[in-house]
Amino acid sequence: MISRETIELVLSRTDIMTLIGSYVSLKRSGSNVKGLCPFHSEKTPSFTVYPQDNSFYCFGCGVGGDQISFIMKMEHLDYPDAVKFLAKRAGITIIEDEDKRYNAGPRIEKDRIYKMNVEAARFFHRCLYEDNPDARAALSYFTNERGLSQATIKHFGLGYAPNSFDRFTKYMLGLGYTHDELVAGFLCGRSEKGNYYDAFRNRVMFPIIDVSDNVIAFGGRVMDDSKPKYKNSSDTPVFKKLRNLFALNFAKQTCKESMILCEGYMDVIALHAAGFTNAVATLGTAITSEQARVMSRYTERVIICYDSDEAGQKAAQRAMKMLEEVGLEVNVISIPGAKDPDEYIKKYGVKSFAEVIGSAKSKFDYNLGRILSKYNLEIPQDKINALNELANMIAGVYSVAERDVYIRVVSKKLGVSYDSLKADVDRIVARNLAAYKRGEAKRMEQESIGYTDKVNPDYVKEPAIAKNEERVLGLMLLFPEHRAKVFREGLLTEDDFFTALNKKIFRFLQTAYEKQDDRLVSMSEEFTPEEMGRISKMKIQRMELSSNGEEVLLECIANLKSSVADKHCSASPLDRLNDLIKRKRETDDN
Ligand code: CTP
Ligand code: MN
Repeated sequence: MISRETIELVLSRTDIMTLIGSYVSLKRSGSNVKGLCPFHSEKTPSFTVYPQDNSFYCFGCGVGGDQISFIMKMEHLDYPDAVKFLAKRAGITIIEDEDKRYNAGPRIEKDRIYKMNVEAARFFHRCLYEDNPDARAALSYFTNERGLSQATIKHFGLGYAPNSFDRFTKYMLGLGYTHDELVAGFLCGRSEKGNYYDAFRNRVMFPIIDVSDNVIAFGGRVMDDSKPKYKNSSDTPVFKKLRNLFALNFAKQTCKESMILCEGYMDVIALHAAGFTNAVATLGTAITSEQARVMSRYTERVIICYDSDEAGQKAAQRAMKMLEEVGLEVNVISIPGAKDPDEYIKKYGVKSFAEVIGSAKSKFDYNLGRILSKYNLEIPQDKINALNELANMIAGVYSVAERDVYIRVVSKKLGVSYDSLKADVDRIVARNLAAYKRGEAKRMEQESIGYTDKVNPDYVKEPAIAKNEERVLGLMLLFPEHRAKVFREGLLTEDDFFTALNKKIFRFLQTAYEKQDDRLVSMSEEFTPEEMGRISKMKIQRMELSSNGEEVLLECIANLKSSVADKHCSASPLDRLNDLIKRKRETDDN
């Protein structure tokens, strides 16, 4: 438990503008400050910082909260770690309370998992050099079948998980790690009968290392054609599969200008061994927007170098989109005559691969080549189809000037007039825009009636009541004096709230009032950044209104009570309002 005083100190020493400004480029607009949201992809800024309120809110994706919520979401930390992160940044030492009664169950320390993973990596690496037939087969797989040198094996810390049910687990228990820790780190599994077993057995091992050089996970490959080919760590307290990239710990040194993105561990290892030390790979999944954002922090340009099969090329299309959305320059290469970069280098050599990299094409050229290769332009119908595909592709380009360049290239190449191709492209652009607007309008409409409300799923059941709840809560969240009034006079109880989230917010405010916590410091501990976003929205909607006085509070309370009462067909709204006003007068008189 970190004390409230410490959290208050951390918050007061963390200027929200400077903090967020170190991740997002912010521009002043009116009394607010805006930037492109780091939590979803957007081209126009809807991410807003409210310095006066020490909060942020994204009108696009609905995430919001205070400095701590921001760091939780940005750095993927839980609440205590986010507070520690900010404390360290602000030079505050945290003295943790010995009282652990708030932590139910064994808390797995991240530091222990990091240390455990290092021990595991060392163990697997040693096993590769043991004097037994299994180990010799594993080493020979790397050296003979995959052509890796001893230096490469050492550089990547490759290893072998022995063909045993529990040799690894026993070894780790001997070092003092517990079953709980081993399971939490995905190194050990637990059977239904309650027996523990090694998670990785008879596989060659690839340690996954993050940019701070922590061993965060493992991938294990079979040495034959059996399935599954790879077994990978699931997410653990120290590992998020969708966020990390294989070999970025090495590539970060040499990738400033460009980075090579491959599909497989083996591709990356082969490329590094051949001197292309700027290669990385995702961890067995398609690239996510998060990984794209991570990459954009280290490089300007990404060269996509996926497998040459259909799946690889499909994945390349998706990767292009992801990478462009975060503002990266994207190039694509196809590897003729080989299934993947690893095989290409083995077959044609390093020099030839360097040429392929040198001839990396822009997305446009790559797609142009891909589309043209599908059609025989001598056949009129083929040519029409090709033109159609190309017009659609050009219409997908955001910049008008860029579209113009492409229209010129394509019209020349296919021998059609500039004007006719431009007319086609413009028509598709207009059609896409209309479809987008329709989709957007629909999305907003659904949002407003709550069909897609994931944060407060009850909203959709009683939108009128939920809206009234939000009005009252907005006022209470903004003004401590309103909270005091409500709780002192018992104007509302949690039973007056229908939706679960709003009930929870009300309960939180009540507890804070009882603890005399006027600043609601621990709010981001109780609520997720998504819920905090909803809370910010309630406040912002109120801030935009000119009157937020006590009469308004009472009126909102009356409306809430009557909307609930309407549902139960009891007293009329007017009676309720009069009743409340009477009570107010009585307390004023006292
Ligand atoms: N992958 C996985 N699980 C599988 C298959 C693949 O997690 N069952 C992931 C691994 O990260 C792998 C990547 O997808 O590195 C690419 O798959 P693939 O091309 O099949 O593997 P390579 O590592 O290229 O292995 P190889 O060259 O031995 O085929
Ligand atoms: Mn492969």
